[in-house]
Amino acid sequence: MTGSGRDTDKDFREVELLRFSGKTAIVTGGATGIGAVYAEALATEGANVAIVDIREPEGESLAQNLYDRTSGNSVFINTDVTQNEATIAMARKVVNQFGSIDILVNNAAVYLDLGHKKPFDEISLEEWEKVMAVNVRGIWHCVKAVFPYMRRQRNGKIINISSVVAYTGAAGFAHYVASKAAVIGLTRALAKELGSSNITVNAVAPGLVSNDASRQLNEEKYLEQATKMRSLPRAMKQEDLVGAVLFLASPDSDFISGQTLIVDGGTVMD
Ligand SMILES: NC(=O)c1ccc[n+]([C@@H]2O[C@H](COP(=O)([O-])OP(=O)(O)OC[C@H]3O[C@@H](n4cnc5c(N)ncnc54)[C@H](O)[C@@H]3O)[C@@H](O)[C@H]2O)c1
Repeated sequence: MTGSGRDTDKDFREVELLRFSGKTAIVTGGATGIGAVYAEALATEGANVAIVDIREPEGESLAQNLYDRTSGNSVFINTDVTQNEATIAMARKVVNQFGSIDILVNNAAVYLDLGHKKPFDEISLEEWEKVMAVNVRGIWHCVKAVFPYMRRQRNGKIINISSVVAYTGAAGFAHYVASKAAVIGLTRALAKELGSSNITVNAVAPGLVSNDASRQLNEEKYLEQATKMRSLPRAMKQEDLVGAVLFLASPDSDFISGQTLIVDGGTVMD
């Protein structure tokens, strides 16, 4: 929600205690694609969800939809994660509205907008910088923005979205692959630094999801090939990622940090 003046006190509607009741989650890149599925799952499980994205109409409409259908208070906050000050303002807004930030899902990325595959030496400097700015620097900004609040409450769950391409490589997207490998390194570094504040930092590395973005970026044959390589030989759905993200956001993973959970139907075995 951005200033629509909607009543956010929904305690009267809460009928049962859900897994994330009373918790506040930020999902970056939550307006569309897989991020929207994480936002929906967290809200359905009772969390107040801040959908942080640059796609305002989609974000507003999802927030309204979740607000209407779930017990949590969902809001949309238009924020470009490449802008440090904007992420600080976003975190302040979330705390002013909900009182805490318990979960941060760093999902925003240049993926759909990568455009067509191209050899590594044909990627422009601008394209390279953009992918790194959103996919890596954006995570750094968002973690910096939420850290003061999580440190104060001595509790926090940070989940960074990487990709199996960090393990397998992938031709045609050198900047994207490099960025997703950096997410794993950053996750490990932050886990070491934030652990003393009782904050866990983990990553999820999804396999190739058969969603709109992947279909635009890859030929159908490529998706079929990925399916064949899985231990569980079927198309991967966006929903296949929800269990891993919710586990890493829940107290069930309180003693797990710095890890990358590969969710790809058993293709890559690290
Ligand atoms: N789809 C797949 O097969 C797949 C596989 C592995 C990993 N992933 C990762 O999962 C995540 C979601 O994937 P997707 O398929 O939904 O991708 P997508 O490109 O469809 O969605 C990305 C979202 O991030 C938002 N975003 C982009 N730049 C932003 C910025 N500067 N500030 C804030 N928000 C911004 C977009 O508006 C969009 O809502 C990404 O991190 C992606 O790299 C996807």
